[in-house]
Amino acid sequence: MAKLPESIAILLLFLISTSISLTAGVKPSATGFVLTGKVYCDTCRSGFETTVTEYIEGAKVKLECKNATTHEVMLTMDGTTDASGTYTMDIKEDHDDEDCWVELVSSPKSNCKEMKKDRNSVQVMITENSGMSSNVRYANSLGFLRDQAMPICTKLMTEYEIGNGHH
Ligand SMILES: *[C@@H]1O[C@H](CO)[C@@H](O)[C@H](O)[C@H]1NC(C)=O
Repeated sequence: MAKLPESIAILLLFLISTSISLTAGVKPSATGFVLTGKVYCDTCRSGFETTVTEYIEGAKVKLECKNATTHEVMLTMDGTTDASGTYTMDIKEDHDDEDCWVELVSSPKSNCKEMKKDRNSVQVMITENSGMSSNVRYANSLGFLRDQAMPICTKLMTEYEIGNGHH
């Protein structure tokens, strides 16, 4: 195969990366960063997403970045999830070396608003130095706990255990 001129190769790379971000449904920002993540209802109270997980619309989250040494708050930002349970935040500056966390604030679902201390926040990297070429940063999903696990969960959890046992 003939070697592509560099400019065409770069254009192709650009088109590929653009289509990847379109697939993910999140537009990269022109400057700065886009932080995105999902909020779900942990319908099995299992601490992870399952096939019966539901995503919560209208859940509120808060981003906070602190100076890792002094713990001075450098940035706070609020987010609200859309119909797919996804929040996005536009962040203008690099927060390299800072300690950034997204935490759950509130859920509009009366039967799914319980928080567990060790599961209600997730650390995020908002910096150029994270080895990623895109400026979209994906946070791990956060879940509110349903007041009672759905009945189907008993069967589901047995299946997950069997699945894990084979690894
Ligand atoms: C954190 O604060 C210290 C003391 O003010 C400062 O020297 C340092 O540059 C800060 N770190 C960041 C990442 O801003």
